Amino acid sequence: MATRENWGTKIGFIIAATGSAVGLGNLWKFPYITWHNNGGAFVIIYLISVVLIGWPIMMAEIMIGRKTQESPVPALEILGGKKWSIVGWLGVLTGFVILGYYTVIAGWTITSFISCIKWSFSGYVSPSDDAFGKFIGNGPLQLLLSFLFMTATALIIWKGVKNGIEKSTRILMPVLFAILIYLVVMVLFLPGRTETFKFLFNPNFAELPWEGVLEAIGHAFFTLSLGMGAMITYGSYMNKQESISRSASMVVFLDTFVAICACIIMYTIIFSAPGVKESISGSTVGMLFITLPHLLYTYIPFGATIAPIFYILVAFAALSSTISLLEVIVALLIDKLNMPRHKATFLGAFAAYFVSILSALSLGAVPFLSNWSVFGPGKEGILSTLDHLAANWMLPIGGFFITIFVGWRLDKNITESELRLTNPDGTFKLTYKLFRFFIRFTAPLAILAVILAVIFGKDFS
Ligand code: TRP
Repeated sequence: MATRENWGTKIGFIIAATGSAVGLGNLWKFPYITWHNNGGAFVIIYLISVVLIGWPIMMAEIMIGRKTQESPVPALEILGGKKWSIVGWLGVLTGFVILGYYTVIAGWTITSFISCIKWSFSGYVSPSDDAFGKFIGNGPLQLLLSFLFMTATALIIWKGVKNGIEKSTRILMPVLFAILIYLVVMVLFLPGRTETFKFLFNPNFAELPWEGVLEAIGHAFFTLSLGMGAMITYGSYMNKQESISRSASMVVFLDTFVAICACIIMYTIIFSAPGVKESISGSTVGMLFITLPHLLYTYIPFGATIAPIFYILVAFAALSSTISLLEVIVALLIDKLNMPRHKATFLGAFAAYFVSILSALSLGAVPFLSNWSVFGPGKEGILSTLDHLAANWMLPIGGFFITIFVGWRLDKNITESELRLTNPDGTFKLTYKLFRFFIRFTAPLAILAVILAVIFGKDFS
C-alpha cells in the first residue's frame, strides 16, 4: 500500500479539524437553539457535554484514525472486526444526511455576502419582515445556492488533503478568529451586554426538559464534528509524532470559544436594539442572516467594511465543515473500492446533492416536503427533520458506540501507545486517567441515560 497522505505542517491537523468543527453549528445553529432553550441551563449542559463527552470522543476518534491510517469503515474493521465496521457505515450515512441540509444553509451565506456588498456601497436598507421567508421559499434559488456550495466543496476535496483542505483552512481560520474577536469587543460597548450575560450564564434548570438535554448533547457532537468518523478520517492523515490529547483539547477549546462568541455577538444586539427582539421571534433560524447584518450596519464602527468580509468568512467556515463531511464519504470510496480520488469526489458529491434537493425545496417551495413532520411542532420539513435526526439521534448513537469500542473493546496497549500519556517514571498522567474514566463510564452512561429518558418520556406522555 502506498503511504497515506499526511498533513503537510505541524499544525495541519489542528487547523483542518478546527475548520471542520467551527462552522454553521457555531455561528448559525448554536445561537438559535440556545435562544429556543432559554439560555443558561442549556449552555451549562452543553459545556458539560463538551468536556465529559466531546473531548474524550474527540481523542478516541483521532486515535482510531491515526493508529490505522484508514477511514472509519476499514479502520473499525481492522481494529474490531466486521461487526464494528457497521459503526463506520452508520457514519457515512450520517454524512449524507448532514451534508444534504448543511449545503442549503451554507448557500444562504452566499446571498448574505452579495447583499452586504450591495449595502456597503449604496447604504443599508433594513429588509422587510417577510423577506427572509420569501427567500428561503424560493425553490430554484435554493437549489442553485446549494448546488454552488456542493460544487465548491467537491473542488477542494478534489485537490486532496494537503493542497486542498489544509491550504485553504490555514488562511481562512485565523482571519475568521480575528473578525470574531473584533465583533465581540465592539458589542461589549452596547447596553445589551448585561442582559446577554445573564441570559447565557444564569441557569434555570426548571426550564430545560429532557429533549433540551438531548439537544445539548447532540449539539456537542455536531459542533465538534463527532459521532460519524470525520475525526477518524482527519486523524488518519495525522503524523505519528503529534500529540493527540493536545490537538483534541485545542480543537475543543477553539470550537467552544467561537460558539460562545457567536452568542455574545448576536444576543447583545438583540437585547440592545429596539424591535430586533420581536422580529427575531418570528424566525430564529434567520438570526445569523437577519440580526447580524442589522448589527453590523447600524452599530459597529467599520461595520460596512467588515460585513462582506464576515459573510465570506462564514461561507468559508461552512466550507471547511462541508469538506470534512464529504471527505468521509470520499475516503470510504477510495479506501474501500480503490477508486481514484477524482472519481470518488464526483460520485460522492453527486449522491449527496440528491439529499440537498429535498432539503432545498422543504423551506416553503414544495408544501409536501415543507410540512413533512416526524419530530413534531417546530421541526416540520425535510431540512429540520434531517437536522434533528442527525444531530440528536444519529451522532449520539454513533458516538456511544465509539465510547464502547475504545473504552471496552480496544486493546488497552493501543490506547496507551497512541496517546503516550505516561510520566517518565511509568505512571499515567492525569489527562490519561481522566480520558479513560470519561470514555468508559461518564460518556457512554450519560448518552445512554439521556436517550432512554427521551424515548421513555415520549412513550408515556
Ligand atoms: N461541526 C460542523 C459545524 O459545527 C459541522 C460538521 C462538519 C459536522 N463535519 C461534521 C458535524 C461531522 C458532524 C459530523 O458546523
